[in-house]
Amino acid sequence: MFEEIKINNEYKYYNGHEWKHSSVFEKIEIKSPVNSSIVGMIQNCNEEELKEVVENLKKGQKIWASTTIDERANILKKASQIMQTHTETISDFLLKEIAKPKKEAVDEVIRSAQITRFTGETIRNLEGIYLESGVFYNTKNNKKCLVKHIPIGIVLGIAPYNYPVNLSCSKIAPALAGGNAIILKPPIIGCISALHLVQCFIKAGLPKGVIAVVSGDPKKIGDILAPHKDISAISFTGSTSTGKQIAKIAGIKKLIFELGGKGSAIALNECNIEKTAKEITTGAFSYSGQRCTAIKRLFVQNKIADKLILLLKQETRKLSVGWDPLINQITPLVGLKHAEFVEDLITDAKEKGAHVIMGGTRNGNLIEPTIIVKVSIDMKIASVEQFAPVLPITCFETLDEVIKLVNQSEYGLQSSVFTQDIDKAFYVAERIQTGTMNINCSPSRGPDNFPFLGIKNSGIGVAGIKESILEMTKEKVIVIRTL
Ligand code: G3H
Repeated sequence: MFEEIKINNEYKYYNGHEWKHSSVFEKIEIKSPVNSSIVGMIQNCNEEELKEVVENLKKGQKIWASTTIDERANILKKASQIMQTHTETISDFLLKEIAKPKKEAVDEVIRSAQITRFTGETIRNLEGIYLESGVFYNTKNNKKCLVKHIPIGIVLGIAPYNYPVNLSCSKIAPALAGGNAIILKPPIIGCISALHLVQCFIKAGLPKGVIAVVSGDPKKIGDILAPHKDISAISFTGSTSTGKQIAKIAGIKKLIFELGGKGSAIALNECNIEKTAKEITTGAFSYSGQRCTAIKRLFVQNKIADKLILLLKQETRKLSVGWDPLINQITPLVGLKHAEFVEDLITDAKEKGAHVIMGGTRNGNLIEPTIIVKVSIDMKIASVEQFAPVLPITCFETLDEVIKLVNQSEYGLQSSVFTQDIDKAFYVAERIQTGTMNINCSPSRGPDNFPFLGIKNSGIGVAGIKESILEMTKEKVIVIRTL
């Protein structure tokens, strides 16, 4: 099944027609964040190879666009089955490449298989629009309007390291369902996992020239592909700074961006304190906080602060910390540089008067689960996205005060409010500037049939199942004049 994607330890790229070695001699080493062992080597595609990929997909997309919905949905169903069958192999690479804990790695593959199947089912049921004239002054009943969803062309999908399988899949499946071709640019760390995913789609029977996956220097690939005239849409998940850079060079094309986040959890006095502590612990620390939707700030109302913080410490202590993703829940961050950046954030907070009441130490790229109290806006940890197992806490007194504090953020992806008072829940939910407000649950992209979007510097466009298909198609309007 996966033999053709590599020779020995060297993984190839897929140019739309075949798995190939790049003519660039230097390969990129993928080292495990767990023990620095080499997981494999990946290709470093050059400009000529990238442009050839676009040419291959230009032809293939036209053929794919003419397939029936039934054919597309059947291939997605088959791809989903193949993924599910190979869950163990693919998830093992997530352990090795990005140190994702075993359970979360398996969940990621199964979730991807489900997204793929559900996307196929959704495209079968996607409806167009029918409109009549005669609704405005001085118009007659003599025109009918049909609106249908047609393919957008070639989609460039750029996925991040934290969900290299799932966030690749959630770009590939809707692109294909909509009749598009897709070039996937996976992250460098996580690339090998994503290459396995692409092979599942190829083996499901996609015609040639419909999917491609390229690897190499992200900046070089971005500079060539993002502005390419034959690429009609870019679906990107990653940092706000990279998103801004892509937007600058992309020109006129559809942009669907999921960028950074600084998700806040707000715990009000009358919340169910035990449940809230559990939810916040999961929200802040799962996959060591390396999730765009992780809780990255906690605001606690004064009356419950001592008790909630005590419970949070108790819950956090239950997490197993270590270097082995097979048994540990808090595992090393993917890069040492990132871990050092997180350590700097903690030091900055301490220097400015915050108290580290748990963790706070770094061992190589492993950061202990950390809780910091007395966090104020002048500290970097209050505004910068940490992407790490670090929970900064600030206390507050009134609802309006906390709403103002949360809305100071440049981000607006997801946030949560915990309370048993429905009026207060809605008061807060309606005033927080965010794509999604969760009431009594921690932020999360899933379930994947829910719309997922960011406002402010957290993104543009909407993801989901139906939403992603709609974003990756365009409307074609046909007007008929009748007697
Ligand atoms: O990291 C960004 C992901 O879209 C978050 O997904 O909420 O399912 O962890 P998740």
